[in-house]
Amino acid sequence: MVENFFLEDSETKIEAEPIDAGVLRILIKKDKDLEVEDRGIVRAEKIRSEDIERGEWSLEGSPENFSIVRGNSKLANFKDLQFSLPEWSEPEEERFDEWVSVKQEVKTESRIYGLGEKTGHLEKSDARYEMWNKDPGGFYTPKEDPIYMSIPFYILVASSEGSPKEFLGVYLDQTQKSKFDIKYKSGAENIGIAANSEYLLLYLILGDSVRGVVEKYTDLTGKPLFPPLWALGNQQCKWGKPKNEEEAYELAKEFRSRDIPCDVLYFDIQYMDNYKIFTWDRECFPDPEEMVKNLHDMDYKVVTIIDPGVKVEKGYEVFESGLENDVFLKDEEGEPFEGTLWPGLCGYPDFLRKNVREWWRDLHEDFLGYGIDGIWDDMNEPVIWFGKKEIKEIVNDLMEKVEKNEFHLSDLVEINELSGRTPEGIVHENDEGDKVSHEKVHNAYAFYETMSTYDAFDKFAPDKRPFVMSRSGFAGIQKYATTWTGDNSSNWDHMGLSIPIILNSGLSGLPFTGADIGGFHGEIEPELLTRWIQLGVFLPFYRNHSAVGTVDQEPWAFGEKFEKINRKYIKLRYKLLPYLYTLTHRAHEKGTPIARPLFMEFPDDEETYLIQDEFMLGSSILVAPVLEKSENKRHVYLPYENGEKIEWENWWSGEILESGHHLVDSPLDTLPLFLREDRGIPMTTSTHSTEEMPDKLILRGNLKDKITIPIYYDDGKSEKYKEGEYFYGEFIIQRDGEKAEISLNVENDGYEPFWEEIEIQLEREGKK
Ligand code: GLC
Repeated sequence: MVENFFLEDSETKIEAEPIDAGVLRILIKKDKDLEVEDRGIVRAEKIRSEDIERGEWSLEGSPENFSIVRGNSKLANFKDLQFSLPEWSEPEEERFDEWVSVKQEVKTESRIYGLGEKTGHLEKSDARYEMWNKDPGGFYTPKEDPIYMSIPFYILVASSEGSPKEFLGVYLDQTQKSKFDIKYKSGAENIGIAANSEYLLLYLILGDSVRGVVEKYTDLTGKPLFPPLWALGNQQCKWGKPKNEEEAYELAKEFRSRDIPCDVLYFDIQYMDNYKIFTWDRECFPDPEEMVKNLHDMDYKVVTIIDPGVKVEKGYEVFESGLENDVFLKDEEGEPFEGTLWPGLCGYPDFLRKNVREWWRDLHEDFLGYGIDGIWDDMNEPVIWFGKKEIKEIVNDLMEKVEKNEFHLSDLVEINELSGRTPEGIVHENDEGDKVSHEKVHNAYAFYETMSTYDAFDKFAPDKRPFVMSRSGFAGIQKYATTWTGDNSSNWDHMGLSIPIILNSGLSGLPFTGADIGGFHGEIEPELLTRWIQLGVFLPFYRNHSAVGTVDQEPWAFGEKFEKINRKYIKLRYKLLPYLYTLTHRAHEKGTPIARPLFMEFPDDEETYLIQDEFMLGSSILVAPVLEKSENKRHVYLPYENGEKIEWENWWSGEILESGHHLVDSPLDTLPLFLREDRGIPMTTSTHSTEEMPDKLILRGNLKDKITIPIYYDDGKSEKYKEGEYFYGEFIIQRDGEKAEISLNVENDGYEPFWEEIEIQLEREGKK
């Protein structure tokens, strides 16, 4: 047994438990005897093991004001513990009545990252954030908070002159509403943490680098899933398109005839019969099984959307079986709760319970049985536009006003604003049969839903690697689903905003994330689409998606001039697949982000800490996308490594640029891209989809002395890699005067690699 240690006064108790030498669990309780329910995401992981080094942690001070000490150094100070809404918070609705809050002291110059899917700057100071999963209603502003997903985890980078940087992760393992005030109202030297609860459960995670902290955080909350190779390819989506089977084939053929690689076609809600989940509109899609087969024959994968709302309709099989199995959320009277979503009045499954998750899993039998490759779990914050009871109240209110002749148009606007607010009085039941108010588990709704969707693959498509995509989520969602940044907008600001969101998601355990390329909401202009496609090529998850009724934004939508550039970049994505796949596998094993903020790779370079318009893809390529209209030249910062100047190679011209500030050409067909000194990547040639793997491996490097290029490869679609059926090796390229020597260290040869031929590209302008 691990020894806990604690601080207490007459009422409050703080318990600390070392999980390992770098992780401390801290439980702060208002009432000493409070039994904390076993619901946190970390506890579900059962991470404690007996044989690890636990380090020398201790607690000092009093419950109101305490320090965490390891060995001789104070790692964190917490103060002003209070069991009420903190003074830095906005007032709350009554239903969020019980609060606990504390402040973590931080140095003014310290920097904060992470917090998952949050808008705003890459560095999170000077703002307040709320963790409450929410659909902002079709679009969000660049500062909107909260949006779809909650990851209550931040990384603090502390630096003081002359001493090495310190990296500390803080994770709040609670699914209730919580708030983080990052050096904002709580003062420049504090981070405020508050939860709608009677306790706080925190994990402190120490690392010697940002990477170390992120990797440890994913030890706690789970390693990211390993997506199939096709999920790294080009994915095409639009709400409303394809509207029928013929349009699906046309779209599929068009990518091929235009020589633009594509792997996946998505089917948004238009495919369903009146938005009833797990059904098809048989007039437009008479034989989905046959259609999926035909699309497979054309080397496409098929992903279908599923929403959580089950239409209340007598005779509708999913609804009837839901009632029979008692799966729906309840109201306070114990009756099934009913709220509105796409199909009208719906019941919502209570995913908290195992038997409900099994019921949901089994609903996928047909879809997965006839070959659907991926499931897109949407609207799972969950979105409930209005509860049935609320509608009645609203209507009664309105009628009263009308009768008293007090009705104003603004009343309707107010109603609109009420839409999407999670109704009160929703009740879950846990596996023990206890009632749990929705407020306590709201943020984990999608987590439990996708856990079940993921399991459906195991049961009904065991030969396939699961692909689940989710809009909402909580810490740990990375085990079950790929995520995307929801309903963004087709404008330049939103394209820029997608970078810090995706980088911070990566730092919060979600390496495989993307934004709707081209933007979801609003009308895209041709130049922006091209710039967005260029950016998307270098981000982990690539999907073009837009809202119904907006202008089409396929890569060919705006004529030959743009199509040509779009094609070139989508092909580049396919050429980069060996590199992307190797990085994705590493992310799965370790939790290491795929797209990385510059400071993660260059922690000694102070200038990198605030840069959010450039990023690293893995550790070898620096990407400097063009984020402004008509920008034919762009300022680029190329970092220093360990305080030294290094040589960066311009990807397109081979020109060598040294660390520092540069102005580089960026005409419409050029996204500035740089290879780091003594780094390289595995590449290949482009094909129409990942079903057809080329036979050439290209090693491209910026060689000064020595490069190591790792490469991972497997069948890309099954789980057999888990049994060792994969290839992993490292190419070593060593300079020897004018020549280079190349060798390969094979670590695992359980799968035949794809190449028969290797091409080496080491030429830089002026140097051979
Ligand atoms: C939501 C999703 C969006 C989808 C739409 C229709 O707004 O975020 O991606 O297209 O619903 O299903």
